[in-house]
Amino acid sequence: MKKKLTFLGIETSCDETAAAVVQENQDGTANVLSNIVSSQIKQHERFGGVVPEIAARAHVENIDFIIQSALETSKKNINNLDGVAATAGPGLVVCLHVGHNIGKSIAAFGKKKFFSINHLEGHALSPSIENKITFPYLLLLISGGHSQYLIVKDLNNYKQIGTTIDDAVGEAFDKTAKILDLGYPGGANIEKFAKLGKKNSFDLPRPIINRAGCNLSLAGLKTDVLRKSKHINSIQEKYNLAASFQDTINEILKKKTEIAMKEFRSKLKISSTKAFVVAGGVAANETIRETLKEVSKKNNFKPIFPSKEFCGDNAAMIAWAGIQRYKKKLFNKKNETVKPRWPLDNKAPFLKGPGLKL
Ligand SMILES: Nc1ncnc2c1ncn2[C@@H]1O[C@H](COP(=O)(O)OP(=O)(O)OP(=O)(O)O)[C@@H](O)[C@H]1O
Ligand SMILES: [Mg+2]
Repeated sequence: MKKKLTFLGIETSCDETAAAVVQENQDGTANVLSNIVSSQIKQHERFGGVVPEIAARAHVENIDFIIQSALETSKKNINNLDGVAATAGPGLVVCLHVGHNIGKSIAAFGKKKFFSINHLEGHALSPSIENKITFPYLLLLISGGHSQYLIVKDLNNYKQIGTTIDDAVGEAFDKTAKILDLGYPGGANIEKFAKLGKKNSFDLPRPIINRAGCNLSLAGLKTDVLRKSKHINSIQEKYNLAASFQDTINEILKKKTEIAMKEFRSKLKISSTKAFVVAGGVAANETIRETLKEVSKKNNFKPIFPSKEFCGDNAAMIAWAGIQRYKKKLFNKKNETVKPRWPLDNKAPFLKGPGLKL
């Protein structure tokens, strides 16, 4: 029997300090032996967003304990590992350095291979922790900093077909929660309070819904929520606005996903059933999950979502990406370092900024 690779993963790109030990299964999925995530929500709550200096300091204070706890829970030690993988970007440079440096040190000390991982590749591969998925597949990555439709042709081979030209979906949830004073981080709270509201109460804009392919624009939606929030007079109206906002995002994703599915088929000339993989923190949203399942059924795609523990930031997805790279012999270049910006598709046009015409 072939040896099963075991990796330590480390994640410190933003406000979660995380470590995990993951072992591959024979069937192509992963056995997550430990997955420790320490969230810094409490430290950033009063600022309504992540403060880089505070985040970096919290990573420094916690990282050794979190790694030790991941190893202990998994009942493995450095000698049992085949490699160490740490997030190298995109993210906050001061935060990335903490996890990346300690990962490099552990790997050097244990004479193990070290992998600098793209956080977005971690998200992209997270659904395959629990599901056997074959390439190519269509990926919708909806997180706090990114919103992209990608054709995943293979590991390390991504073609972006759509992205946001302004706010990310998670960012729109967070900003709307802030406007409505529903707490930080906002996504899960909007989902919770939307259940108490009526989704058709407010008519909100759906920017570029009928043009620009499967690209997204959400800044105008958020601005309209801000405008309308100034005229609400009761808690019920606040819940109605939260419900209307979530429903509008849901409708935008429904329409844009249909376009992305058509584009996937026409670009790859494939008519058989393929996987539609949804990843990132917003993939935890039940309403969005249900809608995307319906769209998939209608368009002959098999929808795959990660379990909620693998939707938001975690280190299991980083260890898993490391294992995949090891198997394909995609080793680090010499002196690999952290990168604040690191797109999965290097050739994709950068679609942000004033004066953009689509
Ligand atoms: N139930 C939910 N509904 C909608 N959004 C959610 C839900 N749960 C979490 N989110 C959103 O997911 C985002 C966090 O996801 P994630 O941790 O993947 O993002 P990130 O790491 O901050 O950004 P990136 O991965 O792009 O660097 C936040 O914006 C949060 O509001
Ligand atoms: Mg993330």
